Amino acid sequence: MGIIQKVIDFFDERYFKYVDTPGWKPTVPNNMKDFLEGVMKKPIPDYATHPMYCLGGLAFAAFLLQIATGILLGMYYKPTPEAAYESVKFIMTQVYMGSLIRGLHAWGANIFIAAIVLHTFRVFLTGSYKKPRELTWVLGVSVLGLSLFEGFTGYLLPWDQLAYWATTVGLQIAGTVPVVGDIIVQLLQGGPTVGPNTLSRFYIIHVVLLPLTIMGILAIKFLMIRRQGISGGL
Ligand code: HEM
Repeated sequence: MGIIQKVIDFFDERYFKYVDTPGWKPTVPNNMKDFLEGVMKKPIPDYATHPMYCLGGLAFAAFLLQIATGILLGMYYKPTPEAAYESVKFIMTQVYMGSLIRGLHAWGANIFIAAIVLHTFRVFLTGSYKKPRELTWVLGVSVLGLSLFEGFTGYLLPWDQLAYWATTVGLQIAGTVPVVGDIIVQLLQGGPTVGPNTLSRFYIIHVVLLPLTIMGILAIKFLMIRRQGISGGL
């Protein structure tokens, strides 16, 4: 059997030909309505209502909260060294409900990461990374890494002393990675020290690149989960 056929079989076994729920027949959807009905009507097992199984949903809710509050912050935030700190101060003191929105975004980031870590423990402890869910696990691991990077890039944006030096130290640590360390620092820092280019780069990575990538990965992950159903184990 050729390698290409093996790859095709791997995906078929885990997605297109996978049947998990008795009484639920996977059909090949002909249109969007068929597809959505197939996804929505599939029953969810009772054990999946256990709180330990709600951590992924909690992470997703926190992610949506980050998008909503992030968009609102973006209406006043200015990503330049001259204006960033003042714009955050303006949000905190002058903008209607500005401190609440910023507080939700900062606390939401912590809840988001905590929920992902706890969700990872649940998935690990129930052995849900095993066949046929290896791909869901791999997608999850990549989303975990990207989410930590999302937190790191957001931390610089207030442009205060804590943000500046935390980023300087973080980039120095990245610089110690063998072979690619220097390239990573050059790409992210954009100059000899943390400066205007770093702020622009972190801003665009934080508000566009990472959120869109995370959304795309989650979309595929959710499709896999709906197709394979939630594994038992608790
Ligand atoms: C933004 C981050 C994430 C979100 C929003 C998310 C969301 C979800 C949701 C809603 C489920 C359904 C079951 C449940 O909630 O427990 C789920 C299942 C799953 N997730 Fe995640 N997840 C994330 C990160 C991760 C990470 C970091 C991993 C692994 C390292 C992972 C691996 C899995 C696996 C293997 C399943 C299937 C579990 C089963 O069938 O029992 N996810 N995820």
